[in-house]
Amino acid sequence: MAGSLADREPSRASEAPTERLGSDAAGLDRAAELLRAGGLVAIPTETVYGLAADAESEPAVRAIFAAKGRPPDQPLIVHVRPRWADRYAARWSRTAATLAEAFWPGPLTVVVARSERVPDAVTGGLGTVGLRAPSHPVAAELLDRYGSGLAAPSANRYGHVSPTTAEHVLDDLDGRIDAVVDGGSCPVGVESTIVELADDGSILLLRRGAITEEQLQRVAGVAPLDRTAGPVRAPGMVASHYAPAAPVAVIDQAELDRRRRNGLAPSVLVICPFPVDHARTIVLGSDDRDYAAGLYDALRHGDDPSVSAVLVIPPARGAMAPAISDRLARAAHPERPAVWP
Ligand code: TXA
Ligand code: MG
Repeated sequence: MAGSLADREPSRASEAPTERLGSDAAGLDRAAELLRAGGLVAIPTETVYGLAADAESEPAVRAIFAAKGRPPDQPLIVHVRPRWADRYAARWSRTAATLAEAFWPGPLTVVVARSERVPDAVTGGLGTVGLRAPSHPVAAELLDRYGSGLAAPSANRYGHVSPTTAEHVLDDLDGRIDAVVDGGSCPVGVESTIVELADDGSILLLRRGAITEEQLQRVAGVAPLDRTAGPVRAPGMVASHYAPAAPVAVIDQAELDRRRRNGLAPSVLVICPFPVDHARTIVLGSDDRDYAAGLYDALRHGDDPSVSAVLVIPPARGAMAPAISDRLARAAHPERPAVWP
């Protein structure tokens, strides 16, 4: 959109077209070469695609914010191999080690005091840094080849639905980034669980994801404290996010039945766990993991100009249900992020 933050600032020096790279050795070598030159490369992870840059390069990290149109005070996660945590953490507590041992590589981000290797641009000036070791084989292999941490937010324009395919990335960022590594669809489909480890040993839950509160409690021996609402601890956790162009409403089956009796317009898209007798319906299935894996692709159909509204029925239960409800509440938020769409 004209006048948005993202359109005012050039995202990178080169205006070369965005390269589509395979996830084979040649693709990953090229990705590492671009990253070494300070470039921006979108990469698959098990959760969503991330827009990666060298985490230790201040200019490369700044370019991420420009490409996404993301406000500079929203900190980025640094992606690492599990054994690199102490490069970027000032202290690696027993709790951090226990959680990493149990859940890394995997969809858990641990917020800890940062080391001097982490530039201010990554953390928005915070004294802490979010670290995550992705389990996706392509992300892990690229990290091994690169040998250093990669700062990466989700590879979408700010406020839009997170990408779970290389096509989604290009829909948002083609021409604004150096390359995307195509690793197929992301198997988890929603972003990592984020916990902050407080100095007194408590675990603060900042964002829900595939690693559940029950799993965290079982491993750490203490119940995480819910900090997902109330005063903002994770500056990127804005109320409105994951929004397609059409307005989104989260409803239950009774409400859907009521609306269908009143005549549902053909332009309305229904996203739902079970089949519905309405032409424009995406059935994600009743299994919460399948539902999460397909959710962002389904929401992106709400960008189709012929869709007037999106009605979503969440899955009834399952370990992923809290994370799905969280993302849907943000997708349905009436206030749009300032720069999207
Ligand atoms: O699964 C994921 O976490 C994906 C993939 C690419 O790894 N990444 C992701 O990044 O979702 P992003 O930037 O879209 O969301 C990161 C969240 C933001 O809400 C941010 O505020 C929070 O992490 N965060 C990062 N560092 C933090 C810190 N030091 N303190 C508190 N929150 C932090
Ligand atoms: Mg994001």
